[in-house]
Amino acid sequence: MSESQSIHLAADLSFLHTDYLWRMPGSWIGYPYYGTSEFYEDIARIAERGVMDMLFFGDTGGTSEDYGGSHHAVVRYGAKWPRHDMTPMIPLMARAAQGVGFAMTMSTTYHHPFHCARVFNALDHVTRGRIAWNAVTSAYKNEAANYGFDVMMDHDERYVRAQEFLEVACALWDSVEPGALVLDRERGIYADPAKVHRIDFRGRYFNVRGPLPALPSPQRRPVIIQAGLSGPGMTLAATYAELQFSTRRALPSMKQHRAELDGKLASVGRKPRDIGILWSIRVQVADSDAHAREMERRYLESIPPEAGLVEMSAQYGVDFSTAKPGMGLADFADDVRAQKGNLGSFEELLKTVDPRQSLEEFGRRFLVDRILVAAGTPKAIVDKLEQMHFETGANGGFILGRGYTAMDNIREFVELVVPELQRRGLSKKKYAGATLRENLNH
Ligand SMILES: Cc1cc2nc3c(=O)[nH]c(=O)nc-3n(C[C@H](O)[C@H](O)[C@H](O)COP(=O)(O)O)c2cc1C
Repeated sequence: MSESQSIHLAADLSFLHTDYLWRMPGSWIGYPYYGTSEFYEDIARIAERGVMDMLFFGDTGGTSEDYGGSHHAVVRYGAKWPRHDMTPMIPLMARAAQGVGFAMTMSTTYHHPFHCARVFNALDHVTRGRIAWNAVTSAYKNEAANYGFDVMMDHDERYVRAQEFLEVACALWDSVEPGALVLDRERGIYADPAKVHRIDFRGRYFNVRGPLPALPSPQRRPVIIQAGLSGPGMTLAATYAELQFSTRRALPSMKQHRAELDGKLASVGRKPRDIGILWSIRVQVADSDAHAREMERRYLESIPPEAGLVEMSAQYGVDFSTAKPGMGLADFADDVRAQKGNLGSFEELLKTVDPRQSLEEFGRRFLVDRILVAAGTPKAIVDKLEQMHFETGANGGFILGRGYTAMDNIREFVELVVPELQRRGLSKKKYAGATLRENLNH
């Protein structure tokens, strides 16, 4: 995907109202929660000013009951809750800002590939080729229960279903050839039937006849993103994705991750340049290191002591309210493994967190330190981004992950960090193409 070596920039908008960011001064001020699209349209305009490639909405359709066995804690604290369906917001944002692309999540475990192919075809049309699909397999119990599963489908089976889902969706996007629309008013021919094909797919999970009853969209298929960290997740990404999200937290594991993905790509006959990685990062920009530390301290203080444990319970499907003083992450490893949920990211924590750190201590920092962090002056931040980018093959870029507020933090990123990236020739000064895929390749 990422044919150039420039740093691609994205922002994850999934958690702007949760993670205690709603407590931060200035956050959401003047904007109604979800009642209108202005908040998101303004973010899109800011992202466009920073020539950012993509704004991303994650999705999990559930209300975690993992902490203490009920939904009370997540609702009280606003921990990953609420989660509106953000699909309708995207066309409004796309109209407000040109250039920037949008990624939307849809689960391969709970949806149907025909519906998915149709929705993303429509989104690609209305955004004029600026849509991406984050194809996730969904690792959350309450979400499973909402879609009718008393027991969550097993991890590896979710990925078998995902392989079939992607095969069907891609066949549907290819089922109508680009030149199919004829519009010959004189001869009365709307479209050429020879260019419209049934897919006649019969599989283990889906039977789909096709074709997709839709005109080919500007990108034909959305840019496909897959963020799996486990073996089957990496295989799915290597087979279908053009972009991967990763939450590796340190340079050695980032390099290892890139090498593992390249190995998987080779095994399916693809090249390293076929998939760019966007590394999740929290960026805290300030005019001095001391000021950045002070801002971090303020954010940490806004997080109630038990909140990190609530968040970890939701993420890993394990009840961390049972933690006794002095227990550490490793004490919960077997429970997390048994859930077969977000195992990859938990193993990354086990590798990178000081094993002596108590769970209470880690819990709070989980919201702040779970992903890479770059804090300090724009120069210090860009030094760090540049180093990480080139040491991992200069193949992708960064996605602002958790822990930034809107509008202030995202505006500061665009006004203070992006100019330094552009000055060093590391990120683009204008959009190179009309579609998201073209922009990601330049
Ligand atoms: C940046 C990022 C965004 C993600 N967004 C979602 C999401 O919106 N919904 C979801 O169910 N999972 C999401 N995931 C989780 C992954 O799809 C995947 O389940 C997780 O990384 C664990 O990998 P594994 O399933 O291969 O063990 C995201 C992961 C990352 C790194």
